Amino acid sequence: TNTQTVDSKRVLLAAPRGYCAGVDRAVVTVEKALDLYGPPVYVRKEIVHNKHVVTTLEKRGAIFVDETDEVPEGATVIFSAHGVAPVVHEEAKALNLKTIDATCPLVTKVHREAKRFAADDFDILLIGHEGHEEVVGTSGEAPEHIVLVQSPDHVEQVQVRDPDKVVWLSQTTLSVDETMETVRRLREKFPKLQDPPSDDICYATQNRQLAVKQMAPETDLMIVVGSRNSSNSVRLVEVAIEHGAKAGHLVDYADEIDESWLQGVTTVGVTSGASVPEVLVRDVLEYLAERGYQDVRPIVAAEESLLFALPNELRRDLKARN
Ligand code: F3S
Repeated sequence: TNTQTVDSKRVLLAAPRGYCAGVDRAVVTVEKALDLYGPPVYVRKEIVHNKHVVTTLEKRGAIFVDETDEVPEGATVIFSAHGVAPVVHEEAKALNLKTIDATCPLVTKVHREAKRFAADDFDILLIGHEGHEEVVGTSGEAPEHIVLVQSPDHVEQVQVRDPDKVVWLSQTTLSVDETMETVRRLREKFPKLQDPPSDDICYATQNRQLAVKQMAPETDLMIVVGSRNSSNSVRLVEVAIEHGAKAGHLVDYADEIDESWLQGVTTVGVTSGASVPEVLVRDVLEYLAERGYQDVRPIVAAEESLLFALPNELRRDLKARN
């Protein structure tokens, strides 16, 4: 009977997982900037929320800073994928910095929506997590028009100037289901609430959650590779548990897996957040294979082929070099 248990051990491997188009572009931007200008290249905030990516780029000569004023005058600074408030561009200009903006185009899209609705004097109910860099950046486009809504339970205390002129927007990396619940409650309170012109939660966030939802009911243990400060990665663990995974953990590296998590586990689900390089997933699969989980089955929820062009400033300099 023991043999039978061993034989039935398996891994469900989510697809899509890992890098989205915005992360890929942001990481390549730093790599190319290092090649082109030589180190050091300054990066404001973590280029993407992944420990491994940040330490790897640091070794190649990237210097991560928290604020623009930590960058020496005249140096090159890259803005992270999460976007920045307009005031940050002004600070950089005042310090005579050369800037390369690696903000994901799908975040820029939300900035544009915020600006437009603010210009029309709407109150903008921005669903997102307080303090997250993306929320800070988007809010900075129209600070006097934005009201942050952090969760469905937070709706009760939301106040607006004119309930007939309200629109909701959101952070790109939230739980789709929880956001819809927040919107439902907001609409109960403000029946005239307008929807964003298009989805703010990005395709990558949606697809990674979709795959996890398909796997979760059969999964005893869901391992999500990703960093603690990665919003979309943290959501994947929550979505897994909500949809029936018996347990779920977020790990940066395979060596953070605790052997005890595997006790009595037949099916392990594996996925990774949008900022996670595939090599870290390989390490997890290797760790699992060494413990009898060799049967790996892909669960494909969507196909992705989106690619973004590199930031203009960088493309121009690359062209000039060649
Ligand atoms: Fe952009 Fe979505 Fe990735 S907003 S950076 S494509 S997680």
